[in-house]
Amino acid sequence: MRDLDVLVLGGGAAGLMCAIEAGKRGRKVLVIDHAKRPADKIRISGGGRCNFTNLHAGPSNFLSQNPRFCVSALKRYTQHDFLDLVEKHRIPWHEKTLGQLFCDRSAKDIIQMLLDELEAAGGQLELETAITAVSKPDDRYSVATSKGPLRARSLVVATGGPSIPKMGATGFGYDLAKQFGLNVVTPRAALVPLTFSDANKDLCGRLSGVSLDAIVSFGKTAFQEGLLFTHRGLSGPSILQISSYWQEGQPIAVNLLPGSDVLSTLKNARQETPKQDLKTALGQLLPNRLAEELARAFQLTGRLADLSDKALQRAADQLSRWQLTPVGTEGYRTAEVTLGGVDTKELSSKTMEVTNVPGLYFIGEAVDVTGHLGGFNFQWAWSSGHAAGQVV
Ligand code: FDA
Repeated sequence: MRDLDVLVLGGGAAGLMCAIEAGKRGRKVLVIDHAKRPADKIRISGGGRCNFTNLHAGPSNFLSQNPRFCVSALKRYTQHDFLDLVEKHRIPWHEKTLGQLFCDRSAKDIIQMLLDELEAAGGQLELETAITAVSKPDDRYSVATSKGPLRARSLVVATGGPSIPKMGATGFGYDLAKQFGLNVVTPRAALVPLTFSDANKDLCGRLSGVSLDAIVSFGKTAFQEGLLFTHRGLSGPSILQISSYWQEGQPIAVNLLPGSDVLSTLKNARQETPKQDLKTALGQLLPNRLAEELARAFQLTGRLADLSDKALQRAADQLSRWQLTPVGTEGYRTAEVTLGGVDTKELSSKTMEVTNVPGLYFIGEAVDVTGHLGGFNFQWAWSSGHAAGQVV
């Protein structure tokens, strides 16, 4: 039986950050993970370059039943603190767009940085270790693993959410929370492509591969970023963002021509090239394949000269307020994150400790705090891991 001060379950972004901070404070800390390699999600993140934080990170970039819960941790360990760490390790980085910071070389730089920091702090990491049972028979936690039993004064759960199960992601954190009587906000796939049926699915399929800048909205929430047509529906950053807000059975609205006054453009075209087809005029505003398919789908036909202001207005409205109702999402198979998780009502926002279970902590994606696309989810992993690391 090995005795520890701190046992961290899960060697991903949040778990490694927490262990580094605990180790720096002289705690005897061990991280265990069932995977062959640590932090596999960092490895594949940001197309292999890891969008490790966002210059504009703040509470408004996160969804949670308690939107204020993330404030304290984000304030005490900010994007600038993480950037300082990246610079200390001389990892070259760049801002891609919208404050999103990426590695110049590879996401592996971030993993190596965390492993070096863990080693320097005296923390240990053991991989390919399955957790078979967790209990608290006395004032310490007992964890049975495939490599023998462990005991620890503090137990930190950093096993993430169930998105991308083929990489070893599990709902283990939720099961453990329930074992200790905690509420779990119903999880669901987020930052995920949306799927359609019938005519819209066929339309998307025919346009598969076409991409453009668009504003996608659900209710009062809107994102202007790239949109991509796929075989089964819609993807791209604007769609991934809205998927975290979308509710089943409800439509989303798509503005395919953000920033342009479509009606004036069409009226000008009518004046200058009256013999032109509406479809051809739309081809000057949108990718050709898209203009052609939408002209057919929305029945936007006829020569410009023959079309009234009202007809042009109708065309402009359809392109800037296209309403369509998804049938679902691509699910956990491709979702970047999971919405929901351990209810923040159960946790201290300062330390991530369970209020009614001393010594038990939940951090990272396992908690009901979910970031927008753009480096925010890693920032939550760093900030929440850091918060717990100061007190375990
Ligand atoms: P994380 O999932 O990283 O770590 C959990 C660890 O626990 C894993 O190592 C896992 O093996 C282990 N584990 C799980 N169950 C276990 C069990 N039962 N027993 C033992 N170990 C167990 N975010 C961002 O900010 N910028 C980005 O560029 C991207 N890109 C991106 C791409 C893709 C494809 C995905 C899927 C996700 C992203 N994300 C992202 C999201 C980001 O990866 C995610 O929010 C963080 O990795 C969450 O960090 P955690 O440490 O909480 O969980």
